[in-house]
Parts: sequence; C-alpha cells; structure tokens
Amino acid sequence: MKQTIGLIGFGVVGQGVYELVSRRSDPGITIKKVCVRDRLKKRSLTPGKICYDLDEVLDDDEINLVVEVINDPDAACYIAEKALITGKSLVSANKKMVAERLPAFRKFLAGNGTAMLYEGSTCGSIPIIRNLEEYYSNDIFGSLSGILNGSANYILSRVFGDGMAYKEALSQAQLLGFAEADPRLDVSGEDTLSKLVILAVHSLGKWVDPSTVFCSGIQNLRPADIQYAASLGMKIRLTGNILRSGKGFSMFVIPWMMNRDNPLYHVENEYNAVVLEGEQCSRQVLTGKGAGRMPTATAVMSDIDARTSGYGYRYRKFLNGSGVEINGEKFLNIYLRTGSEEIIRSAGFVKKGDLRKSNGYYIFTGGISLSNLTRIRKQLDESGSFIALTGFDAGDD
Ligand code: HSE
Repeated sequence: MKQTIGLIGFGVVGQGVYELVSRRSDPGITIKKVCVRDRLKKRSLTPGKICYDLDEVLDDDEINLVVEVINDPDAACYIAEKALITGKSLVSANKKMVAERLPAFRKFLAGNGTAMLYEGSTCGSIPIIRNLEEYYSNDIFGSLSGILNGSANYILSRVFGDGMAYKEALSQAQLLGFAEADPRLDVSGEDTLSKLVILAVHSLGKWVDPSTVFCSGIQNLRPADIQYAASLGMKIRLTGNILRSGKGFSMFVIPWMMNRDNPLYHVENEYNAVVLEGEQCSRQVLTGKGAGRMPTATAVMSDIDARTSGYGYRYRKFLNGSGVEINGEKFLNIYLRTGSEEIIRSAGFVKKGDLRKSNGYYIFTGGISLSNLTRIRKQLDESGSFIALTGFDAGDD
C-alpha cells in the first residue's frame, strides 16, 4: 500500500525519520507535509512542505499515514483521534499519550482498516512491541524487567563509571538528544512507567492506569548511594517491572541496586534492555539503543514499513479481556537513604536489616510491601530520600 505521509514534529526524532525516508527514495513512501510549531525557526525543508496547523495534515485527503513525533501528549491525542476517525493510520512515538489514552482508542483497535503503531514509543530501537504481539504471544508470560529509559541509564552509567556529577550527566543526556523536553520525566521514572504500561498491554493484555502504579526514580540519588552500591560491587539501574505475585502480577518502577549476575547490570549508556521470562522460551534478553535520533527514527521507520504491508496490532489478549490481575502485593528488599527517622519508623518495614547513621542521614535496609511503599512514596520524594530495590525473598511470589 502506498504511504503518503504527514509528518507532525520535526525535532530530534522527526528529523531522523525525514532523513530515513529521504535516503530510501522509495516512490511508495513519500512525505507530503511536515507540520511544525515554531514559525521562526529556520529549517532545511522545501518551503512548500512545511505547515503550522495540525488540521492541514489531518484534513488532507491524500495523506493516509500520519507520523506523529511530538512531545505534547494532549496534542498527540487530538492527532491520534482525528487521524483514526478520518480513516488515516497513525504511527506515534508518544509513550505518554499511548500509555494514558489507549483504552479511549479501543473502538479503533479492532480494525476499521486503519492502524495505530507505536514501536518507537518504547525502548527506542529494540523491536519489543511487535515481538510481544506476534512472537511471544505463543508463550505464557512469566515476568518482565527492563531498563526502559535511555537518559536515566546514561546518567547512571556516567556517575558509576566515570564518577561524573549527576547534574553534569543529565546535561550531557540532554545535549545528546536522549532526554525529554522536560527531563524530570526521565529521572522521576514517569517515562519508564509509560513504557511499562504499554508493555503490559502487549504482554499480558492488561491496561493499568499509570497513576496507580508505584513509581520511584533517581532524582534523589546522592554520592552516598553510589558509594554504598559501589562498596558492595553493585550498580544502580532504573527499572520497570511486571513480576508474578500470587495468582497475578505486580507492576512497579524502581531503581534496582544489582550485582553482575543480573543482565541489566551490564547495560550501559543510552542502551535499554528487556528481560522476559516465558514458560516455554525461558529467559530472553533484548537489548539495544533506547534513545537518540536514529535508534528511535529506525523504530518509527519500521512502523511505516509495516503499514505498507497493511500490518496492525491484533491486541488479541487486550481486546478479549485478559483475566490477569496486576495489582498483586509484593515484598521487596529495599535500600533506603533518608534524613527522616520517622519514615523508617512508620513505613511498615517487616524485616529490618542494617541501620547506619552518618552525616545527618540514615542508611537502612529492610523488607517492605509494595502497598506500604506506595503509601510513603510522596514522603520519600519530598524528603529527598532515595530507595532502591535490593532483591526479593526466595519463594516470595
Ligand atoms: N527520553 C527518552 C529516553 C527518549 O531517554 O529513553 C526515548 O523514549
């Protein structure tokens, strides 16, 4: 099927997509219009191609594929709805929009001849969504843990590997085009959470409201935490997890203090990785660049190609109403650095380990339930405390 594209967004990823389409020079795939926001910015585009009004793309009958690579999730939602209603297919890299609004698109997902594809939204160049949809759908899903944010992993690599200051590492991640326009989304774990919600839809067939998922990031990471981990030969990785707990699953985003036995320990810089456990396929590790212009543009390009052969996600489990529950309780072993003794006392730790005090803060290790951790999340954030997962008790599921 010939694809006449309206490209919305010409930032880091949009320029990469434009370059890949131009390099291909395939008459079956053409970019008719490029919609941008800033009228004053100079661009290396044929003037006739540029437009500033979303509707100029969405109302153009010749355009049958809208490729949206913008930051704003509300505008992305408007684009997605209007594109699908008017019979255009959509390729999006907007993880927040997809994660939050996917159920609203349910009526379009069963296939009205259009499709919404978003491989570029999750894990950059790792072909994870289509693989979960097609390849892994034959297996019974056991668990998933992953590094899903390239910027956070880049920062952690720099501070652990090179002793770089956190702020400098974050600035570099921004300069290299890895970070979100608002980099708080990267370090707070919110970006990881959006991607985790998308992975849950395609692995378990279950959508979970992101606002209900425990999410803790690396924004409060301090040299004391790095020293503690390094003294034990460990590294910290920001992870998204969907793990078995009882008859269901529990889902959470958390920094994980891990040793070299964990495959995620070895993932550096802007690379992402997903560790999947299937009943038949056992453990599989997929890894690749998770952020940056060309890695993400490649994923978007692969969706464009998929549309030329009429591909759309089938959402077999999701549309059939997966019976899976993702609200299970889980006990986590935790490292906590906090200035607040009150948090340690009132959090509901069941298994208290080490407690040290130095330079006005406590370093504490102990076991805690996910529900108690969720209860104190705001306190942790606001008090500048840092937590990291250190493991699970054997047999705790
Ligand atoms: N800011 C995101 C990241 C971009 O660092 O992973 C790719 O989704």
